Amino acid sequence: MVEIKQLGEHVGDSVTIKGWVEATRGHGKVAFTVVRDGTGVLQGVLVKSQVDASVWDLQQSLTQESLVTLTGEVKEDARAPGGYELGVTNVELLAAAAEYPIQPKEHGIDFLLDNRHLWLRSSLQRAGLRVRAEVEQAIHDFFYTRDFVRIDTPILTGAIGEHAGTLFETDYFGDSAYLAQTGQLYVEAACPAFRRVYCFGPTFRAEKSKTRRHLTEFWMVEPEVAFADSNDNMRLQEDFVSYIVERALERCGAELEVLERDTSLLEKVKPPFPRISYTDAVAVLKEKGSDVEWGQDLGAGDEALLMEDRDLPLFVHDYPKRAKAFYMKENPADPRTVLCDDLLAPEGYGEIIGGSQREDDLDRLQARIREESLPEAAYDWYLDLRRYGTFPHSGFGLGVERTVGWITGRHHIRELIPFPRLMNRLYP
Ligand code: 4AD
Ligand code: MG
Repeated sequence: MVEIKQLGEHVGDSVTIKGWVEATRGHGKVAFTVVRDGTGVLQGVLVKSQVDASVWDLQQSLTQESLVTLTGEVKEDARAPGGYELGVTNVELLAAAAEYPIQPKEHGIDFLLDNRHLWLRSSLQRAGLRVRAEVEQAIHDFFYTRDFVRIDTPILTGAIGEHAGTLFETDYFGDSAYLAQTGQLYVEAACPAFRRVYCFGPTFRAEKSKTRRHLTEFWMVEPEVAFADSNDNMRLQEDFVSYIVERALERCGAELEVLERDTSLLEKVKPPFPRISYTDAVAVLKEKGSDVEWGQDLGAGDEALLMEDRDLPLFVHDYPKRAKAFYMKENPADPRTVLCDDLLAPEGYGEIIGGSQREDDLDRLQARIREESLPEAAYDWYLDLRRYGTFPHSGFGLGVERTVGWITGRHHIRELIPFPRLMNRLYP
């Protein structure tokens, strides 16, 4: 058995490949069978006069997604997808497929999502998910080569990580537990143990928004660095994002082509990225006709307006305190604001990173927890980090699906996670 990806080493040989039938055509003297084996796609060519009648008849009866083996000689053919063709001498049916719901035609998105377990097999979905896998590997490689220690943080938590409004609550032996919105508080605790750490895992938000960039379960990578300030944090972010984009360009060229991604803009993604303060951003937005008021967080519309005519990701930094989470460090130069940043991706993809320097002053942090009416007792362990050798530190969270959405140029991020969880979707 040979994998399609390895056919280049077998030109002129007779081989057998095993895979699922994507399509068949031809009825006269020559018939074609396109087979996918998970490593690639191959077209088998049958000439009626050269094979047994039973082989020909079997080929004619094959249904889409039946599992078969094809045996024949490997031929180089520049016009064939993948560059090779198989001169088929034998076909074997291993598992026949019933009538396959996904046909080579336009289907509605709800239908495709209902059939996500099958939709995964189609070429655009394969390409997008392969880019995702490469991005995830790039994330690990980036941090590994920079001496970060990976810390696995809990999914079941007792404290609110980000916002009370988007918590999934579950019964925990009579108490309440929340599905993690972030691993941040825990990687902060690991900083004094390892200096540079990161976590990478699923996070959960009961988002009631049905937008193209919200999932209720999404994957986030969150580095945390001792002795890094907000400026260091943004520099790490631009190096990190540039590295991920470069890896995708380097290793996923074929997938980006299938996705018809215009890669010229991605080629420009190199540090440094431009920066604008929140206060300046609000002035720019007002000039562009937005009715945003200083003090509000920026919505998707404002982000899009800000990114018009921009090719590179943009840092917006130092947001108003009341628009952001309790743990962000007060800006000594303007205490109405905090030392934080959002990184906005171009081409309409919006915020892909939220990051900040953390409040390392015990009293201020305690005051913020009270201001936000958070249950103090649940944060006692977190306050200990400020009681025992408090230290300046910063970190950020990058959303994997939003980042892969931008890199692949897909409109909706639900396609960039194998089994999306949305407000109205828990199936399949
Ligand atoms: O800005 P957020 O809420 O930041 C945090 O969670 C911090 N604790 C991170 C940190 O400093 N360690 O979320 C970070 C990123 C967003 O920029 C976005 O890319 C992604 O997570 N994100 C979502 N992605 C998909 N669906 C959602 N509902 C998302 N919410 C956030
Ligand atoms: Mg955010």
